[in-house]
Amino acid sequence: MMFENVKAVVFDAYGTLFDVHSPVGKVSERLGDKAQAVSDLWRLKHVSYSWLRSLMGEYVPFWQITRESLDYALAAYDINDKQLRDELLNLYLSLDAYDDAKVALAGLKNMGKATAILSNGSPDMLGSAVKHSGLDPYLDCVLSVAQVKVYKPDPRVYQMVLDRMKVKAEQVCFVSANTWDAQAAANFGFQTARIDRFGLIDENIPGKPKMMLKSLEELLGVV
Ligand code: LAC
Repeated sequence: MMFENVKAVVFDAYGTLFDVHSPVGKVSERLGDKAQAVSDLWRLKHVSYSWLRSLMGEYVPFWQITRESLDYALAAYDINDKQLRDELLNLYLSLDAYDDAKVALAGLKNMGKATAILSNGSPDMLGSAVKHSGLDPYLDCVLSVAQVKVYKPDPRVYQMVLDRMKVKAEQVCFVSANTWDAQAAANFGFQTARIDRFGLIDENIPGKPKMMLKSLEELLGVV
């Protein structure tokens, strides 16, 4: 199976291009056997707070939610270490890209596709992660929800791609490793690939991605 007539390949950032578990991974010896649980709870609260704030009409930049969700996760595990907290936040600004990200983006540029990020991240956070990971030469644009002040999966976020990149929804291949994001993007009308990084089954919500891929590199054979 192939995607058809793709002009732009648009990537989710956190969890798809960037490894959100790399900050805790780098200080894991200081968290001992709580490390994985703290990282998982941080991520869970991070996305939950973005949904809750969108529903409440209480948008704040993603960087604030990054701090508030980390503080929740640390408190839930009784960890009271300001220095560790600040280190984790700093590490979040220079997340590791997954190994397949650069190869995939460079290959897509070689094929003449437009490339972009569409993310909940604040522009400064995204700018920092893109630069640190060396992905900037391969991205035509980095779109942040800061423009519309509501988080994914609100359709106004996916609409930004059409407005900014001057493409039709069916000309977009949207790529995400986050189940709910991939499904919402498919429901919006994008051709969508879910990257199976986490071994998760589909959510019972509207939207069916066209393809499930094992890695970003596999995109090069299907767009
Ligand atoms: C993002 C989150 C959903 O980058 O991972 O938008």
